[in-house]
Amino acid sequence: MNRIRVMTIFGTRPEAIKMAPLALELSRRPQIDALCCVTAQHRQMLDSVLDIFRLVPDFDLNIMEPRQTLSTITSKCLLGMEEVLEQARPDLVLVHGDTSTTFAGALAAFYHRVPVGHVEAGLRTYDKYSPYPEEMNRRMVSAIADLHFCPTPSNRDNLAREGIEQGVFLTGNTVIDALQTTVVKDFHFSEGVLNDLDYVNRKVILVTCHRRENYGTPMAHIMTALRRVADAFPDVELVYPVHLSPVVQEAAHQYLDGHPRIHLIAPLAVDEMHNLMARCHLVMTDSGGLQEEAPALGKPVLVLRRETERPEAVAAGTVQLAGTEEEPIFQMASRLLTDLAAYAAMAHAANPYGDGRACGRIADAIEYRFGLRAQPPAPFHP
Ligand code: UD1
Ligand code: UDP
Repeated sequence: MNRIRVMTIFGTRPEAIKMAPLALELSRRPQIDALCCVTAQHRQMLDSVLDIFRLVPDFDLNIMEPRQTLSTITSKCLLGMEEVLEQARPDLVLVHGDTSTTFAGALAAFYHRVPVGHVEAGLRTYDKYSPYPEEMNRRMVSAIADLHFCPTPSNRDNLAREGIEQGVFLTGNTVIDALQTTVVKDFHFSEGVLNDLDYVNRKVILVTCHRRENYGTPMAHIMTALRRVADAFPDVELVYPVHLSPVVQEAAHQYLDGHPRIHLIAPLAVDEMHNLMARCHLVMTDSGGLQEEAPALGKPVLVLRRETERPEAVAAGTVQLAGTEEEPIFQMASRLLTDLAAYAAMAHAANPYGDGRACGRIADAIEYRFGLRAQPPAPFHP
């Protein structure tokens, strides 16, 4: 029997959440030798995900430094990958999304003439600096990749407009696969405050904010708006698991400390996060992943960014762009907290990003590409 070696490469929390179910699916395929290389661009936040999915990497570059720059991440990944690729000699490398690990992993594979599969391909804002540096990372990876696994039809159409039509598969997003394994009815949180909150009589707002293009003034506006929301609405409890980036830690504590109903807590393990999301009233975030997860759980989202590469949930009516200015963010949140009809219009489950079967489709597509399967997978239909 022909066998192929497929190596997944990832380094940050969101990549891990979206690649772990795929790495596990690949390891279950009899004709695939599945290898996993982590760069550890994130250390604690990555390890938390690896623990939850019980995934043990074959290679760990351990590159993270405090306040790392884009250049140090990229160069350390690139150099580290050299030895790994020479030793492992994979037939295919899989990278995910748009981080510095993604770009460096794809580039390293290209330098070794190893084919690249891009998971979560085709997302675009067409604004080079927003999100920064992610928009350019994903465009550069599209140029390198041989296989493109697009979550949605509009992602596929973006690639087609750029002349990329070969090796494109419409799969759905693997985050929905992950979500289906984590949310349970009687979840017990390890963070005490999350068990104590009254999710029925209080309005729990789940907040995350970490994007590099929001560092500085936009983040100050966002934090000020969040505090105004907590001040103006006595029934609001704001829960913010703060990203470990020192820049984010400093901003969050500067603007949000010392309020009795603002809970700044450590980053949550992914199962804790998904179960909190399933119980909260509203999500306010600049995260990519939360924009995909919250609609599947029927939770309205205000996006704390000027644009989004995920327009599908905006079209479905569950996500609104709130921008990064204090006044519009405060006004939009206030409306959702006071206007029952406006809230109800957004609080319905929408699943434009996947049906929980993306990993199976990606593994099938890989087998098809390597002649191990006669037919390509049927595309995801939203
Ligand atoms: C990175 C990605 C971004 C993604 C985000 C997910 C790039 C350029 N950016 O941004 O696309 O949305 O991850 O969270 O690839 N830190 C720790 N421990 C951790 C993780 C981070 O201490 O487990 C601290 C370190 O000081 C590190 C800093 O956070 O230097 C920033 O991490 P970095 O990966 O450079 O940027 P993110 O903002 O996390
Ligand atoms: N997440 C988590 N714990 C947290 C915050 C986020 O597990 O404290 C999960 C979240 O559910 C989603 C992913 O991390 O699956 C999103 O990661 P992040 O917001 O860091 O990055 P982005 O998606 O913006 O690239």
